[in-house]
Amino acid sequence: MHLVIISGATRTRSKSNTAKIVAAFEEGYREGGNTAETWFLSDRAQWDGAAKAFEQSNNILIALPLYVENIPGILLEFLEGLTPKSAPGTQIAFLVQGGFPEASQSRCCEKYLETLPEQLGCAYAGTLIKGDMFGLGLMDEKEREKPLAAFTEMGRHFAETHRFEKDVVDVFAAPEYLPEKELRMFKLFGRPVQKLFMGRMAKKMGCQGRLDAQPYSTGR
Ligand SMILES: Cc1cc2nc3c(=O)[nH]c(=O)nc-3n(C[C@H](O)[C@H](O)[C@H](O)COP(=O)(O)O)c2cc1C
Repeated sequence: MHLVIISGATRTRSKSNTAKIVAAFEEGYREGGNTAETWFLSDRAQWDGAAKAFEQSNNILIALPLYVENIPGILLEFLEGLTPKSAPGTQIAFLVQGGFPEASQSRCCEKYLETLPEQLGCAYAGTLIKGDMFGLGLMDEKEREKPLAAFTEMGRHFAETHRFEKDVVDVFAAPEYLPEKELRMFKLFGRPVQKLFMGRMAKKMGCQGRLDAQPYSTGR
């Protein structure tokens, strides 16, 4: 079965975590003879092709990074430009990945996505959720293998079921909330290490000021 994948990430393909995840997912999906094509909305030159692919396909996956607990603005803009389908038979599934580890972060977005296919004249085929993906682009290829292998496995699963069932997604997306004990440990030990790591990373990217600078603070 052919799958049209549309990436709603704003970062260019080479820098995007969504692109890496989609490539791993596609690998699993293609095993056994399925085919897939991916369109990247970060490249506006691909928008017409992506809209045409949406029009002509009845098996669609929209992949996106979580942005402020919902979908990125460019994806919303793209969706607003689509003509809803008048004939039934098209299904849309979603793949949402975010930076924070708790799946609860993505539940608001999931609620919205559940309503979206109907507005486009399509059926809803589930939402795959995964957090803790912020660092994916900062890892080397070897480090990335394990987190990406999980998406390849989900690609295989999707090739068989053609949908993301809620019980499978919930296991994949865990943890829903981090345990209290883990949060306490993080505040004590993890936060100082993270601060150091983020500071170094910012410096490498050319940041010259403090990360906790408050230039507009009134001092109150
Ligand atoms: C503007 C912005 C808003 C974000 N909001 C969230 C959020 O609400 N929750 C979350 O878990 N991650 C959030 N993130 C993190 C991204 O979802 C995460 O780093 C993702 O892997 C980026 O994928 P990309 O490289 O394909 O853009 C945000 C990132 C940006 C840049």
